[in-house]
Amino acid sequence: MTGGEPTALEVRGLGLRIGGARILQGVDLAVRQGELVGVIGPNGAGKTTLFNLVSGVHRPTEGQVLLGGQDVTAAPVAARARAGLGRTFQTSSLFPRLSVLENVRLASQGRLGGALSVLRFPRSGDAATRDAAEHLATVGLTHRADAAAGDLSHGDKRKLEIAVLLAMRPTVVLLDEPMAGVATADVPGLCQVIKDLHGTGCTVLMVEHHMDVVLGLADRVAVMHHGELLACDTPEKIMADPTVQSAYLGDVA
Ligand SMILES: Nc1ncnc2c1ncn2[C@@H]1O[C@H](COP(=O)(O)OP(=O)(O)O)[C@@H](O)[C@H]1O
Ligand SMILES: [Mg+2]
Repeated sequence: MTGGEPTALEVRGLGLRIGGARILQGVDLAVRQGELVGVIGPNGAGKTTLFNLVSGVHRPTEGQVLLGGQDVTAAPVAARARAGLGRTFQTSSLFPRLSVLENVRLASQGRLGGALSVLRFPRSGDAATRDAAEHLATVGLTHRADAAAGDLSHGDKRKLEIAVLLAMRPTVVLLDEPMAGVATADVPGLCQVIKDLHGTGCTVLMVEHHMDVVLGLADRVAVMHHGELLACDTPEKIMADPTVQSAYLGDVA
C-alpha cells in the first residue's frame, strides 16, 4: 500500500444495539481501494454483524457506512450491490436446483442486462453464458457446469459462490468465512481464487479463522472482540501485539 489510494469502504462509529444488548459498538475502519483486510476474532465477536451492517442486511443504531465516499447508511441491500458491493454468506445463497452454469449466468445476465429469466432456455452462445463460463473456468468448476448446484461438494459450492460474485463485477467484496467446512485439499485453490479476485483491483474484506490463510493474503488484519474493533494493522504488527494476543488467543483457547 502506498497510502494514496482512495477509500473504498469506511465505517464510522458503527454500532448496533438490539434490545438492551450492545452487539457492536464504536467501530471505525477505513479500507483503501484494492486493499485486502482480514477480519479475525473469536466466535460472537461481531464479525458477521459488521458485514450485515456494511451490506445493509441490518441498519446500525449508531454510526455510518460509506462506499466510495458515499454515505449508504440508509440505502437498501440492492442499492449497495448496484454501487459495487458484493458479498458471500456464511450459509450458502445459491439456487440448489439450477445448474452450476445457470447460477453464474443469472448474475452475468443481471449485470449485462436483458431478460432475467431462467424459463427462457438460454442460447449457449449468448453473452451472459459466455461470461458465466469464463467465471466458472476461473474458479475451476468448468467440469461441473451442468451439475445441479445443490449436488456440489461444500468446497465446490464456495467456489461457485465466488464465481457468482465475480460475475457481478463488484468493486468491494465481503467474504464471510469462505474456507469454512472446505476440505483441506480445496483450501489452496480457493486461496488462489481470492488472490486473483484481489489481483483484479477488487477491495476485499474477509472473515477467516484459518490464520495461515489470513496472514498469507491480507494487507491488514482487523481484530474484533466483544463487538469492538481492537486493532487493525499489518499481519506482522497484529501478531506481535500483546493486547491482541491476550484478547484473541485468550478467548479462543
Ligand atoms: N439478530 C440478533 N439478535 C440478537 N443477537 C444477535 C443477533 N445477531 C447477532 N447477535 C449476537 O451478536 C454477537 C455477534 O454475533 P456475530 O456477528 O454473528 O459474531 P461472529 O460472526 O464474530 O461470530 C453474538 O453474541 C450473537 O449472538
Ligand atoms: Mg460469523
